[in-house]
Amino acid sequence: MLAIETYPKSIPLTTPLALLCDEDGAVLYPHPFLNEATQRVREVSGGCGKVGQTFVLLQQTQHGPTSIVIVGIGKSDEIDLDRIRTALGDVVQTCMRHRMSRVVVAMPEFRTSALSPLEVVEAAMEGACLGNYRFTRYKEAENPLLEEVRFWVTEPLTQQQPRLAFEVETRCQGTWLARDWVNTPSNDKKPAVLADCFVQEARSAGIETTVLDETTLRQLEFNALLAVSAGSSEPPRLVLLEYGSAFGEPVTALIGKGITFDSGGLNLKSGDSMRDMKIDMAGAAAVVSTMIAAARLELPLHLVCAVPLVENMPSGTSTRPGDIVRSLSGKTVEINNTDAEGRLILADTLSYVQSTYHPKTCIDIATLTGACMVGLGERIAGLFSSDEELLKQLADSGRRTGERCWPMPLPKDYKEFLKTETADISNTSSSKWGGAVTAALFLSEFVQKDTFWAHIDIAGPAHAQKATSICPKGGTGFGVRLLLDYLQRLVG
Ligand code: BES
Ligand code: ZN
Ligand code: ZN
Repeated sequence: MLAIETYPKSIPLTTPLALLCDEDGAVLYPHPFLNEATQRVREVSGGCGKVGQTFVLLQQTQHGPTSIVIVGIGKSDEIDLDRIRTALGDVVQTCMRHRMSRVVVAMPEFRTSALSPLEVVEAAMEGACLGNYRFTRYKEAENPLLEEVRFWVTEPLTQQQPRLAFEVETRCQGTWLARDWVNTPSNDKKPAVLADCFVQEARSAGIETTVLDETTLRQLEFNALLAVSAGSSEPPRLVLLEYGSAFGEPVTALIGKGITFDSGGLNLKSGDSMRDMKIDMAGAAAVVSTMIAAARLELPLHLVCAVPLVENMPSGTSTRPGDIVRSLSGKTVEINNTDAEGRLILADTLSYVQSTYHPKTCIDIATLTGACMVGLGERIAGLFSSDEELLKQLADSGRRTGERCWPMPLPKDYKEFLKTETADISNTSSSKWGGAVTAALFLSEFVQKDTFWAHIDIAGPAHAQKATSICPKGGTGFGVRLLLDYLQRLVG
């Protein structure tokens, strides 16, 4: 869908053209015709260039009329990578609304900004690709997606980075895949079904796959995980993916929460808070999609991915509040709230991954707590790590990709809120405050001393209540570009 090429000598108007326009007229094109076009709009409309502002002009050519789409990027000194992604999302949305199937984006030169031409065009391509997504499994989209978006650039970036378009597209396809899985309703992604989907996609990318079924999980004593699935008629699965074993050590492990529906169990959620709970496997979708993209990009890394897939339901066979189970680690857990189920399936998965693959680094990503949304809202994830360096690397990846992660504390003294007289640990805090922190502390109890571990709580950003320029309402695929950026920087 994406292509990048050097500016032609004269501007052919055979396909629709998109231009970016700033508020103050400081951002210029390397071609007078394009500067004239934005200038004309500026004069006629009394200004152009505000973020979210779009114009569509009809230009007469010898082949008939062609459209020129002009999209605002705001004040020239405020332009950053996210602004550029948003603007290109706006280009794509506008083209889609006008039923255009292709567009050429003329990239201006950002002389006033500190951004390099490479990062600018990369962000532009990303915005276009991310915006060109609709979930169409059950209903056709109102307007068709764009088939092609080409970018004109001044520098010979095409020669410097011949794989750039492929890389951006592969990453964004990872995000699309995660969005599709999150948007799928729970009746069509029961654990066994979703496990098959994950395996099929992973295999097509050359990833080794293993699926542990309920009998195996029982034999291995995944009792915390099984306590969550006890109420459901759907058997659980643990999907294990491995890529790049030839690269040997170190192993990086990615773990994602895969609750295919979270009713809360016997601690049943209220109607409103249950409504969106098909998204409770967004962590699983993110890590599987990350692995697939990493394999397609052929990253020279040894990666392991583990996703527990479980449905959390109330029934006569459900786990009861107060029940105690011996987790895979050997620690006993008192389940005082069946709605705090994510940490239970993650605890056993963390234990299994560490004892099986001995990863140097282990990152889990989960729609874990409503409390994290209270603290950070819908667009920022909570980031927890016992290691300062890992925390910084992930926060930096968050800034670069626009998938923001805010560092949160792991205060040792708060562990007292997880104490209970009858078991080694309770799955519920005795304090009603700081729920995201105590959930992370619970997980930390299942991490071995020599493992570099980070936990990302994506309860907020996994899902968008409102469409943005780069993502329709629904699953966002949050985490895929974040983790890929982190992994790509491990390679250097
Ligand atoms: N899946 C939810 C967290 C969640 C809430 C995700 C909103 C996305 C949007 C999780 O399993 C949960 O129910 N957490 C409880 C924990 C509590 C019972 C200790 C919560 O946050 O209320
Ligand atoms: Zn829950
Ligand atoms: Zn949940």
